[in-house]
Amino acid sequence: MNEKKKVKLFVPGRLCLFGEHSDWAGLYKTMNSAIVPGHALVTGIEQGIYGEAVCDDSFSVSSKIEEFQGSDFSCPMEMSKLREVARKGGFFSYVAGVASYISEWYHVGGIHLEITGMDLPIKSGLSSSAAICVMVARAFNELYDLHLNTKGIMNIAYLGEQRTPSRCGRLDQACAYGVTPISMVFDGNELDVERITVKKPLHYVFADLMAGKDTVQILSDLNKAFPFADSEKEKNIHQALGADNEIIVTKAMECISKGDVEGLGKLMTSAQKLFDEKVAPMSPRELKAPVLHSVIDDEEIKKLTYGVKGVGSQGDGTVQLLAKDEETQKKLIEYLENVRKMTAYSLTLKPTKSVRKAVITVAGFGTRMYPFTRGVKKEFAPVLDKDGLVKPAILVLLEELDNIGIEEIGLVINHEEEEYYRNFFMTPLSNEHYLKLPENMKNYEQHIQKIGEKLHFIYQEEAKGFGHAVLQAEEFANQQPILLLLGDTIYDSFEERPCTKQLLDTYEQYGKQVVAVHRVNLDEVSSYGIFSGVWEDKEEKVLNLVKISEKPTIEYASQYLSVASRKHRENYYAAFGAYVIDSQIFDRLKVAAKENITNSKGEVELTDALEYVRSQSGMYAFVPDGESYDIGNPKAYRKTVNEFGKKI
Ligand code: UTP
Repeated sequence: MNEKKKVKLFVPGRLCLFGEHSDWAGLYKTMNSAIVPGHALVTGIEQGIYGEAVCDDSFSVSSKIEEFQGSDFSCPMEMSKLREVARKGGFFSYVAGVASYISEWYHVGGIHLEITGMDLPIKSGLSSSAAICVMVARAFNELYDLHLNTKGIMNIAYLGEQRTPSRCGRLDQACAYGVTPISMVFDGNELDVERITVKKPLHYVFADLMAGKDTVQILSDLNKAFPFADSEKEKNIHQALGADNEIIVTKAMECISKGDVEGLGKLMTSAQKLFDEKVAPMSPRELKAPVLHSVIDDEEIKKLTYGVKGVGSQGDGTVQLLAKDEETQKKLIEYLENVRKMTAYSLTLKPTKSVRKAVITVAGFGTRMYPFTRGVKKEFAPVLDKDGLVKPAILVLLEELDNIGIEEIGLVINHEEEEYYRNFFMTPLSNEHYLKLPENMKNYEQHIQKIGEKLHFIYQEEAKGFGHAVLQAEEFANQQPILLLLGDTIYDSFEERPCTKQLLDTYEQYGKQVVAVHRVNLDEVSSYGIFSGVWEDKEEKVLNLVKISEKPTIEYASQYLSVASRKHRENYYAAFGAYVIDSQIFDRLKVAAKENITNSKGEVELTDALEYVRSQSGMYAFVPDGESYDIGNPKAYRKTVNEFGKKI
């Protein structure tokens, strides 16, 4: 544990976009195997709970915010006492439920959690109780290094809340994933979660219908149809929450990831129609929802939206609307508030900023490739590519970037090197030589010149290390995320997508900075930046990073940096040579350069900046399906020459 560490936390509320009720319905599969698993799309919203936590001997929660009415909570960090508080119910039962679970299974000390803010409407069906449970689980995870991934945090929040008299659904804890849509599949006791990539912005509005509904009644009515359906009415519910819902949710996922906003709106209309026809008759009094339907049928609202549907348990609680764009989103809120006298909120799901630019650092001298580097830059060392052509390594790399649609490429060089690149990429071949080329190679000439058009030169006058080289690209990056590559590394993908494309796709899906890594042996760790974390996905390709260390000792790495996987108990992951970074990294590099935060060689290190940003906002590592080949030292170069481009 870290005595001095203070963690800042934000957990949003959550909104179920599609598939409400399918979480508990899917759970009935444990009793009736014919039940189709539940499918839902859920997202965190912009409003939520803010907090700060530190380690402490006991477990306590305090706040000056209004909702707490000045009451604080403190309890020894003992499972039985905390469980007792949870069982009794009430305001602090949720936090106590989660703390009791942690105390029972993790044997750690307590924490003090200060709730510093809350803009989440309570009792609105947006799960403020789940948000606070997730916050407690996350605070323990970060302060005591419990090595839980997001799903683990979500599970503990759920099990903690189950210790209170309140009955939460399994989809409530989706808020653990932040303000991003996820798909959830409820198959009996099993739960699968997957992040969805948002292609185009989705401008939602949700509003309190200012009417009323009785969730307990709705749940009690609908549950009568489970686990076995007898009547036609009951069979309809099974069909609607099972197979029909699965079709709608699958299509909705496609619409979100392809950017078909209008199609998504139409699916909202279909989902509501399905609910009204096949589910509502089980609870007609609560689910007739006249106010909700008056909003759906409102001509003014129809003009501004692509689709409208209910939220959560449905009924006259909350409505969600998909506005046509940013402007109609504002108009819709105004209309709902001023004319319909409802409290309305905006929720914009933004795509991860797309990566248009790449930066390649090539300003190092290449001491390890001396004397070759006396005359030729190592990036121009020849390799035999898969297409049978002998190319300078840098051309292999640039072709990959061109193929994946990178629009501008910044090369970090020193002034003297500029002519190498100008000669190769920007100067046409002499007519005499050009005419000697076969036809297909004449076309290839055009291709080289086209790549040249994408190049920009960024100067590093003194070779003060990799981190310093990266820092020079700040202006070129212009506050946008960039793909950062080393000039002396090329990649061979084992799948259709090149390794750099795999990395960009991961960045888009996870929405945070990501470092490509590969497995190395323990006896090699002292030569690399080592990345340790917990697997975030089932395939064990994405690590939620817990620690990044530059060239650690073998002892330190084996104690603190190993990653367990299904196949091997101890794995070590080192940088692969490709990163997606954003302005946070440049900010930290600037501070390091100014305050002389350097390594023993006096160099500003990228690894230090990565670790700093990770500790502030989290970061992922990704294991591409492919291999990286180094040309920066003789042994690695021999391997590259022998193996690169060969079919595996
Ligand atoms: P290396 O650590 O391989 O350094 O840099 P180097 O100078 O190229 O090679 P050695 O260690 O002297 O043999 C990794 C990448 O960062 C670039 C290099 O060109 C290489 O692509 N780099 C390194 C810079 O651009 N500037 C620097 O000051 C150092």
